[in-house]
Amino acid sequence: MTNQVFAKPPGTSIGPVLGVETSCDETGVAVFDSARGLLAHTLYSQIRMHADYGGVVPELASRDHVRKLLPLVRETLGQAGLGVDDLRGVAYTAGPGLVGALLVGATAARSLAWALDLPAIGVHHMEGHLLAPLLEPDPPQPPFVALLVSGGHSMLIKVDAIGRYELLGDTLDDAAGEAFDKTAKLMDLPYPGGPALAQLAEQGRPGKFRFARPMTDRPGLDFSFSGLKTQVLLAWQASDRSEQTKADVARAFEEAVVETLAIKCRRALAITGARSLVVAGGVGANRHLRKELADAGVKEGFRTYFPRPEFCTDNGAMIALAGALRLQAGQFETPAIAVRPRWDLASLPPVA
Ligand code: KG4
Ligand code: ZN
Repeated sequence: MTNQVFAKPPGTSIGPVLGVETSCDETGVAVFDSARGLLAHTLYSQIRMHADYGGVVPELASRDHVRKLLPLVRETLGQAGLGVDDLRGVAYTAGPGLVGALLVGATAARSLAWALDLPAIGVHHMEGHLLAPLLEPDPPQPPFVALLVSGGHSMLIKVDAIGRYELLGDTLDDAAGEAFDKTAKLMDLPYPGGPALAQLAEQGRPGKFRFARPMTDRPGLDFSFSGLKTQVLLAWQASDRSEQTKADVARAFEEAVVETLAIKCRRALAITGARSLVVAGGVGANRHLRKELADAGVKEGFRTYFPRPEFCTDNGAMIALAGALRLQAGQFETPAIAVRPRWDLASLPPVA
């Protein structure tokens, strides 16, 4: 049971916070201190292990997190020049993600916190992505609009303050990263498809193919990318299937996704009146997307903020930072057993 309590005044650095990320196929560990910044971070990617299967195998992911997590914690503390006794809090990704993988990080983090008598907090993975630009010099100040584009999500969010998030738009089907991955797969590109497709697109010639910009011809901020994948499949099957054609198709697909995202970002900025745009999540590492939005910002007078590419994809640093901000605001979860002196019988969930 989550039990949020408020103890310390907000804004005071509590000291070094350990961050643990194990929601999918990356084991990430970091130490962040609000007063001193990021002290160390390490990452182990399981990509090579899952590549043989063409995608993430959840059970294998969990087992590998078990193998890698504690050595990475030791290595990260070593890099930071700290011992476990120097830690003042522990943050871990509590979701969304693969449940077995999440449990590995959560169990290790909670155990460490319990043994060291430290406060622990479960971080929302997407809040981690959203706050990753705060790891960079000259961080954004709310209010801003955030485009979160990862393997599982494509969202536009209005950020009024840290922790005050309003969902403006969401994907109706595939997430942007998922669309990259599935499109790459249908053209036989190696897993993980997104970066492979983006790399191939660099060799593609402009104007050889053109795909739709889904849902840009009607108002609203939602996304839909699954139809685009079908368009690519049909174009690819009808083509000569040469290596150059593959690159041309990849380029046209990337252009369609990037332009669609850019159109919706502009719309979100216009609707909210915000003048700052944050772009984060794995697809935020895409060079073409970064350039398109940065150029649009210069031309149209809004500021763009991106985490460095290694902090766009999953990492422990963003979890340590998000956790540190919440812990220093006095929020943490007690491992205490909860009993309730008052308890509404009608609030019980049905048994079946
Ligand atoms: O945020 P992330 O590391 O994990 C999730 O939370 O999902 O995002 C992973 C996604 C994958 O779908 C991957 O293909 C995509 O981000 N991705 C990219 C690039 N780098 C990673 N997509 C397009 N271009 C890239 N350079
Ligand atoms: Zn992620």
